[in-house]
Amino acid sequence: MLPNVLHRSASDHVPVLAEEVRELLAVRPGHTVVDATFGAGGHSALLAADLESEGKLIAIDRDPSVRTYFDRFKAGTGAQARLLRGEFSLVLNQLAANDVQADAVLLDLGVSSMQLDRPERGFSYAADAPLDMRMDASAELSARELVNEAEERELALIFRRFGEERYAGQIARAIVRRRDERAFERTGDLADTIKQAIPTPARFGDGHPAKRVFQALRIAVNDELGALEAALPAAVRMLRPGGRLAVISFHSLEDRMVKRYFREQARGCTCPPEFPICNCGNEPVLRELTRKPVRPSSREVEANPRSASAKLRVAAKVEPA
Ligand SMILES: C[S@@+](CC[C@H](N)C(=O)[O-])C[C@H]1O[C@@H](n2cnc3c(N)ncnc32)[C@H](O)[C@@H]1O
Repeated sequence: MLPNVLHRSASDHVPVLAEEVRELLAVRPGHTVVDATFGAGGHSALLAADLESEGKLIAIDRDPSVRTYFDRFKAGTGAQARLLRGEFSLVLNQLAANDVQADAVLLDLGVSSMQLDRPERGFSYAADAPLDMRMDASAELSARELVNEAEERELALIFRRFGEERYAGQIARAIVRRRDERAFERTGDLADTIKQAIPTPARFGDGHPAKRVFQALRIAVNDELGALEAALPAAVRMLRPGGRLAVISFHSLEDRMVKRYFREQARGCTCPPEFPICNCGNEPVLRELTRKPVRPSSREVEANPRSASAKLRVAAKVEPA
């Protein structure tokens, strides 16, 4: 159950794997918690409740519209709280450079329900709106630029890699053909072009035919994998020994990146396996608390279908011997 520090409205983002995150991050009074993906503050509310008014919660988000949620959260919590707006890898690095240490860091990746459900943000194929998809509206690259300016080969690669789209090549070709006549301005035009580009039987397959391409564009526009790659070492840098890092991912490429990073940091030694003894002297930095990712229960997926692809991995920073 969510503690009663945040009064939710029906359209708010529902925090995913909330109890599991709470249990594995094990926040205690006096801790410093960094919620690097604040969103509507659902996870923050839960973690702040465990601070019992003693400790700090630092919220990060690149989307300025979370301010309203943060103000509401701050008014309802006894803990010290502040919001830092920016890309999480940069903010985490700045905090580490300023010797801020955390006992718990959470990354709940991807977009929030508020971003997806507001048609004017241009994330959704389900509503016709300007083609945008930027989590931070001041960022340079929007989906409009990408769709109208990227080479056909680059578009196909994005659709294949980030969307696992079978018809990536056909869709990229259809986009380039259509934009030669008229630039794409709206999500509806793009969704129609995608639908026309794929074979008729495939239009009735797994969900909306534009779902995978829209997801791929969103990941590319916001450089979501680049941000995660830079954020993992930054988060570990700012953890106190014994502090914990939790990452919830929704895409297999993200989960693979987290899994690989946690394994490498838990191994420490980077010597080739054929070396009889360790030469590098590197010590383990992390201890994995979840060998396998934690998945939502069927009850959670039923109540919140957006949780279906979530995977949670948690690791603790090794304490010096
Ligand atoms: C899935 S939502 C988080 C929801 C939140 N845990 C809750 O319970 O309400 C992800 C949030 O992280 C933000 N975000 C995603 N990538 C980011 C990045 N690289 N830097 C900063 N914020 C980011 C998004 O703007 C969004 O608000």
